[in-house]
Amino acid sequence: MLIMSKVTVSLIKADVGGWPGHSSVHPALIEKAEEVLSEAKSVGTLIDFKVMACGDDLELLMTHRLGTDEAEIHAIAWETFEKATAEAKSLKLYGAGQDLLCDAFSGNVRGMGPGVAEMQFTERGAEPLVAFMMDKTEPGAFNLPIFRMFADPFNTAGLVIDPSLHHGFVFEIWDIIDHKRVFMSSPEEMYDILALIGAKSRYVIKRVYPKPGGKLPSEEPVAVVSTEKLYQTAGTYVGKDDPVALVRAQSGLPALGEVLEPFALGHLVSGWMRGSHNGPLMPCAFEDAHPTRFDGPPRVIAAGFQLCNGLLIGPVDLFSDVAFDLTRMRVLEITDYMRAHGPFEPHRLPLEEMEYTTLPHVMKRLAERFEPAE
Ligand code: F6R
Ligand code: MG
Ligand code: MG
Repeated sequence: MLIMSKVTVSLIKADVGGWPGHSSVHPALIEKAEEVLSEAKSVGTLIDFKVMACGDDLELLMTHRLGTDEAEIHAIAWETFEKATAEAKSLKLYGAGQDLLCDAFSGNVRGMGPGVAEMQFTERGAEPLVAFMMDKTEPGAFNLPIFRMFADPFNTAGLVIDPSLHHGFVFEIWDIIDHKRVFMSSPEEMYDILALIGAKSRYVIKRVYPKPGGKLPSEEPVAVVSTEKLYQTAGTYVGKDDPVALVRAQSGLPALGEVLEPFALGHLVSGWMRGSHNGPLMPCAFEDAHPTRFDGPPRVIAAGFQLCNGLLIGPVDLFSDVAFDLTRMRVLEITDYMRAHGPFEPHRLPLEEMEYTTLPHVMKRLAERFEPAE
């Protein structure tokens, strides 16, 4: 095992049981997860950790020195989810173990159900970090806010007026259907970047990098998003791929307020009821991250930290700020408006993006009654 001086931050999440339905995580699961991770911290594998929850998702934020995609860390996360699943089963919580798609751990949780956002970097003199966690939506929900943080001058004043950001950033974009990726430079290729990431169910921002010659090393990511697609991994629909992201801030990067600003829109995302509806994303306080209205509307929470030699100094509940109250009010109005459309698009997703559908059954029943139109 190579001990590196860089810090690695791993945010690994899974839905291992809801309470009740798909609305929240029972405190017993959080306690169990804290117990397992405390053990890993006491033997020195983890520097620090925080267990959090957004909706029905159990979120494990861990710091260590072992690098990304490291078997030992992924094994700890897997063991934590297994033990939380046992707890969920004993309480007969809803969908216990739903995101653990494989019976045996094989060295890496990617493709096994959990969502993963990890990055390794040199901790700066002061290192502000935000962990974003969403429920009832998909990884593409991060496209708009991450783009706006790192590429939109109307969001991020620093892109225009701070010489250390003025040259822009590099986006790593994944095609999650064909499993390919491309690195693109902003602002030079901004319109091409938007041509891809506007199609958010297919092209997702995976990472953002600084450009060479700036304050930060260009090979170390400054933002990362989980891009696992549960329904692809499992073959059939087993729940949502509710995404998470890590974003570093300040001093050559977007300021904390520029990192949070894109969420003041309450932008439309896919997910919500049965993973089959469009709705506004509500930034909310930790204590409000329990989506209940029509299983939504989709939520995002933001946990703010200062890193201190790998220790997580926090969390600060960043969206508990009253300055997001108006966003929440608008989201509620949009929620009413969207709900009024009932089963009609664009509230309901187009056929190819729905995660539940009866259409094949309906078509089978009607097959003989269909006749040629004029
Ligand atoms: C799950 C979700 C929910 C469920 C819905 C139906 O993440 O978002 O909207 O899809 O509650 O769940 P089942 O099929 O488990 O009854
Ligand atoms: Mg669930
Ligand atoms: Mg969820």
